[in-house]
Amino acid sequence: MNVPLLDLVAQYQGIKDEVLPAIMAVIERQAFIMGAEVGQLEAAVAKLCNTRHAIGCASGTDALLLPLKALDLRPGDEVVTTPFTFFATAGAIHNAGGTPVFVDIDPATFNIDPAAVEAAITPRTRAILPVHLFGQMAAIEALLPIAARHGLALIEDAAQSIGARRKVDGVWRVAGELGTVGTLSFFPSKNLGAFGDGGMMVTQDDALADRLRRLRLHGGAKQYFHDEVGFNSRLDTLLAAVLLAKLPHLAEWSAARVRHAARYTEAFAGHPDVCPPRTDPANEHIFNQYTLRVPRRDALQAHLKARGIGNSIYYPLSLHLQPCFAHLGYAEGDFPASEAASAQVISLPVFPELTEAQQQAVIDAVLEFYA
Ligand SMILES: Cc1ncc(COP(=O)(O)O)c(C=O)c1O
Repeated sequence: MNVPLLDLVAQYQGIKDEVLPAIMAVIERQAFIMGAEVGQLEAAVAKLCNTRHAIGCASGTDALLLPLKALDLRPGDEVVTTPFTFFATAGAIHNAGGTPVFVDIDPATFNIDPAAVEAAITPRTRAILPVHLFGQMAAIEALLPIAARHGLALIEDAAQSIGARRKVDGVWRVAGELGTVGTLSFFPSKNLGAFGDGGMMVTQDDALADRLRRLRLHGGAKQYFHDEVGFNSRLDTLLAAVLLAKLPHLAEWSAARVRHAARYTEAFAGHPDVCPPRTDPANEHIFNQYTLRVPRRDALQAHLKARGIGNSIYYPLSLHLQPCFAHLGYAEGDFPASEAASAQVISLPVFPELTEAQQQAVIDAVLEFYA
């Protein structure tokens, strides 16, 4: 049985009757730029994230770039982040004029290690940029006091973790709620995916929200008058309409991912080779990815491919070892936990529409390889 890593067509078939009229309404009005649906989606996402503001933009990458630009970084200013993430996290730091400073991850969760963050702070540090990877939040309660002590911004890259929660001091907190700003991606493979690229920034800070709203519109609060040089980074109205139609399904979709993850973890429990992902007990994981650690990973990947089982390696090369960051002077061995993860991880299909038979085929193929 062929099982795709992600089946967006299956999802579309289930919601076609809700999404198509929403798209047609925008087309009938021909209101493509900053139409009403953008504001409606922003209000709905702010509510979901427990924030005062949500500001749409063109991608999850821009959702990082704009708040980094709002820091007015000078050459040599540093932003501490993880090397085990999608490239955009560090690329945005570079493109905002800053220097990425990498620190290692907690091997249990793949998320940034707060103790390593503290050790990497210098007089040039301006921000901490944790990533809530694969669908579970980083240890935000440990990062917030570090940021506060050193007067740093805390930018939460929640591209993979929309609506994920973590219990902090006995209270459930949503990804993006507690940081200076939280950033979301609506890339089609995310738990809430658009029909194209899109992103959003969430914040409690009124002044920062105003600045981000300006930055996405060429830096002008009033059309044709520009306080600073910004970007063309709007969220398309058509995509906002799609996302508004999809948003009511997000909780059920994420719950389905959690159920699939639990079934995998049960099937692999106690296996001498296959190591299921660990959910920090403080977290509600939304499983944007279900990521195993395994020995002979590349051979397993070839085996799955031969069996028609979709999979992917997120991420095969730590960012500190990427050729484009060679000038930063990192070397192999600098971040052993991140490098080990890159060598061992493999992500399996965990999309909401995955059927029991499909999932069994994935489980059988993995177990067959290590039998
Ligand atoms: C952790 C992380 N950060 C940033 C991004 C960038 O988002 P986008 O692809 O919407 O630009 C992504 C996703 O692709 C991501 O997974």
